[in-house]
Amino acid sequence: MEGLYTKARVIAVINHKGGVGKTTTTSSLGAALASRGFRVLLVDLDPQSNLSQILGVEQPESQVAHALLTDAPLPVINVSENLSLAPSDLELADAEMIDGIILTRVDRRLVIHKEIIQTVRQDLSDFRVLNTEIRLNAALKESQYAQKDIFQYSNSSPGAQDYKQLASEYVTHFGN
Ligand SMILES: Nc1ncnc2c1ncn2[C@@H]1O[C@H](COP(=O)(O)OP(=O)(O)O)[C@@H](O)[C@H]1O
Ligand SMILES: [Mg+2]
Repeated sequence: MEGLYTKARVIAVINHKGGVGKTTTTSSLGAALASRGFRVLLVDLDPQSNLSQILGVEQPESQVAHALLTDAPLPVINVSENLSLAPSDLELADAEMIDGIILTRVDRRLVIHKEIIQTVRQDLSDFRVLNTEIRLNAALKESQYAQKDIFQYSNSSPGAQDYKQLASEYVTHFGN
């Protein structure tokens, strides 16, 4: 575990497709890790700046892009305890590979989902497919409209439970 507690670690949430749950995973996993006591900085590299919007930050004075393109400091806005945001609205690509594959928006009642999950777990075994599956859950969408994190919005919702579980699995696997 010691690594996570002494060294900063970067988690990049990547998928080229839109609407697959990247922003939701970033904000919810970030909030779950913050509530476990980790100091979390969410860096918004989305050209549509959804992450900033759902955190209630609109038209920030300074953005991540300014820090990358000039010698301006990285803009950091405190969101809540242990949780900060570096806002952005410029299209940027991040080529870093993530630590594993996260299955989101899962509805196990659908045969097709079960089949896809089985295929992913078998065929992509070269990658770490995280055990935690994030269920399809309306509270995740509602919380973003309410500009609250899922834990503030509904701590007992399936979405809150799943992202807490994901944070716990992450800490267990990548703690070193
Ligand atoms: N597990 C989930 N259950 C229900 N809705 C979800 C879930 N995850 C994300 N959503 C919703 O799906 C939409 C797309 O998710 P988002 O995180 O914005 O995707 P991306 O960042 O990959 O484009 C959003 O409206 C979000 O609220
Ligand atoms: Mg997004």
